[in-house]
Amino acid sequence: MKIALAYNKKPEEDILEDDEPPDRYAEYDPPRTIEAITSALESLGHKVFPIEAKKDFLERILEISPDIVFNIAEGLKGESRESQVPAILEWLGIPYTGSDPLTMAITLDKPITKKILQVEGIPTPRFAVVSESENLTSVESLNFPLIVKPSHEGSSMGLNSKSIVYSYKELKERVDIIIKFYHQPALVEEFIEGRELTVGILGNSPPEVLPIKELDFSGVPENLGRFASGEIKAKYWYLVKHYCPAPLDESLYERIKNVSLKVFKVLRCRDLARLDIRLSKDGTPYVLEINPLPDLDPKEGNFPDMARVKGMSYKELINAILNAGVSRYPNLLNMEGSRER
Ligand SMILES: Nc1ncnc2c1ncn2[C@@H]1O[C@H](COP(=O)(O)OP(=O)(O)O)[C@@H](O)[C@H]1O
Ligand SMILES: [Mg+2]
Repeated sequence: MKIALAYNKKPEEDILEDDEPPDRYAEYDPPRTIEAITSALESLGHKVFPIEAKKDFLERILEISPDIVFNIAEGLKGESRESQVPAILEWLGIPYTGSDPLTMAITLDKPITKKILQVEGIPTPRFAVVSESENLTSVESLNFPLIVKPSHEGSSMGLNSKSIVYSYKELKERVDIIIKFYHQPALVEEFIEGRELTVGILGNSPPEVLPIKELDFSGVPENLGRFASGEIKAKYWYLVKHYCPAPLDESLYERIKNVSLKVFKVLRCRDLARLDIRLSKDGTPYVLEINPLPDLDPKEGNFPDMARVKGMSYKELINAILNAGVSRYPNLLNMEGSRER
């Protein structure tokens, strides 16, 4: 098949406007990820056209006219940026892998996602959304310590050791920073002490939970914050231990698996997604977020790592994502080379 790989690449040098935060490009993929997916698809017998999702995307895609787009693009700017590429492809009637524009837009908005989870009875940390630091009344019912995050970012953007706050003074300072640098309301959540898990889900019929991974922050000095902040990811990741499969007893494993599959389903995710979960001391799996564009970096991505533990090579994983997408489009199913023999 003729496959376009839609991506956004990290710039070689971060060129930032004055009002942009230093982690502006944290979500974008490094060249290594784009090359790895390209060569996996090529080795499956496909012709691959990597296209950066920037302003000339529409022209490029029309010029190439692919059978399907393998989508890992984060989009250019704005609150619904992850839905931009799927929306263009829907408009043009071009098949693509991954979730649709609605799911992409909702899951990038953490407060809206959490409201849906609450309605569905899925545990998620208690929260408030604050758009002016002068007005903290919505936070009054929450218990410290709290964590302050941007409402619609990913890749630990805006998170460092100061994100966990213990007083109204610290809370106000942090909310101001989020509003000033990220130009969006702050999401204030109760901080869940406990184990951190990440859950990968692959495919649709039925969606399958990959071996669950635990991130153990106990080796990180407490003053740096024992959670996946941007700072820890950039400088101290070597202090974080990883266990995959996570040591969980069977009933807990089943509970986490069922909660994760329910989140995947209620948010209408497709093909692949990865959830972040904090397990409280009483064994409640609190869902922090679901990411329909998980990092597919062959070395550092959690999703490929979980697939590897399941016994899938990188090429097999990429093929499984592609086939999950292909199976939505009857016209593609019979094309030569659409599936690896
Ligand atoms: N309510 C919370 N309780 C405990 N840890 C949290 C909470 N919210 C976020 N974290 C920590 O911060 C990390 C990043 O938060 P997350 O909501 O997943 O944002 P991102 O989209 O940046 O990945 C999580 O992996 C976890 O370590
Ligand atoms: Mg996360």
